[in-house]
Amino acid sequence: MDSLWIEGGRRLQGEVEVPASKNASLPLLCLSLLTAKPVRFRNLPGVSDIQSMRNLLGSLGVQELEPGLFSAEKLTSVKAGYDIVRKMRASILVLGPLVAREGRAEVSLPGGCAIGERPVDIHLTGLELLGAKIKLEGGYIFAEAKRLKGNHLPLHFPTVTGTINLMMAASLAEGETLISNAAREPEVVEMAEALRQMGVTLEGEGTSNIKIQGRSELNGLDWKIQCDRIQLITYLTAAAITGGDISCRSYRKGTIDAVVSKLREMGCAVTEIGDQVRVQSKLPLKPISIETGPFPEFPTDAQAQFMACLSLADPAAGLSRMRETIFENRFQHVSELGRMGAQIRLRGNLATIRGVPKLSGAAVMASDLRASASLVLAGLAAEGKTQVLRVYHLDRGYEQLEENLNRLGAKVWRAPQ
Ligand code: EPU
Repeated sequence: MDSLWIEGGRRLQGEVEVPASKNASLPLLCLSLLTAKPVRFRNLPGVSDIQSMRNLLGSLGVQELEPGLFSAEKLTSVKAGYDIVRKMRASILVLGPLVAREGRAEVSLPGGCAIGERPVDIHLTGLELLGAKIKLEGGYIFAEAKRLKGNHLPLHFPTVTGTINLMMAASLAEGETLISNAAREPEVVEMAEALRQMGVTLEGEGTSNIKIQGRSELNGLDWKIQCDRIQLITYLTAAAITGGDISCRSYRKGTIDAVVSKLREMGCAVTEIGDQVRVQSKLPLKPISIETGPFPEFPTDAQAQFMACLSLADPAAGLSRMRETIFENRFQHVSELGRMGAQIRLRGNLATIRGVPKLSGAAVMASDLRASASLVLAGLAAEGKTQVLRVYHLDRGYEQLEENLNRLGAKVWRAPQ
């Protein structure tokens, strides 16, 4: 097992081309289950979660004819087993498409994970409202329906993958579906745009009400995936925490507004020009308060990275506060940051952070994808060497992180543990 080593204390400067989004790609790949026509992606990201999704789709009968070109004239299985689902929760995204196209699906229940309990009740209730019979047995979801029928699906929370799963299912259902209290994340908007290219009539993506006219068959797809807004944010926070100056390309305007305003509150200058966004940081950062929430609020996926930055905010200017409202257990980076000298007090879902003048390098343990990113950021700013263990968490969602950081002037390398 590899770990990542970082020699901290360098100011980062330069440009990064941000790769395609993992969280957009995972559901988009599942579109290959909805049609017998070829589905092509121009820029799939090279992260391990995408390989896991390829393996899952392959086990269902989707063939990858050449890199990025998928075809499923016939599916050969409707089962997503525990082995794959427990490694990658996004596997639940095959449920809607399988029931819609094959009339049947058997998908392992994902169970909890490092960041919270993460139930899938909204996915299941939605499918039931579309006419599927759902049974839970032996840790599996069994879903069946001759042909799904459009309906009103009021969600009790705007879940991202839940909204997307139901959008895909409704696209092959008979008649009209209205999803209310839908998620508004950029990944939902992109799914609507892709479904539209496949011949589905939809309206309302990016708002809380999405209307979908189902069809009996869908066209193929030829698609370029939007940039990964969370990797983008991670590079912007790398500029913030090192007093640096980083420009990111391939940025889609309007996708990170809440983050941009928090970077400015911390004292960074942020400029958006065309598809570029640039952060120029001035240390020390100012302490601020953040509360995570569904889009367009501040993303939970950026909470850990900002926590690393706020650990070094100016203590003379007060305390920072971070309230996590999406995942109840997404604070595992707190104790590891503490090992590097951060002063963070946790009470329920509220972290109070007293900035310290410096962090010091230490061996720290990554616990999930974004927590790992925050430890890397802390390592970039810390004095001395930091070793981030269990780096496979990072590899699920960050592409060429060491290469990009080194190009910006960092000293980061990978070594067997
Ligand atoms: N929820 C329910 N019932 C459901 C579904 C969700 O109560 O049926 C609750 C969850 O327990 C949670 C909240 O709703 O408290 C939000 O969860 P959501 O379903 O929106 O999250 P997700 O779709 O499972 C995606 C991303 C996550 C990201 C969240 C929030 C993918 C593959 N995953 O997860 O990304 O944190 O939305 O924006 O798109 C990551 O990339 O590191 C990551 C965890």
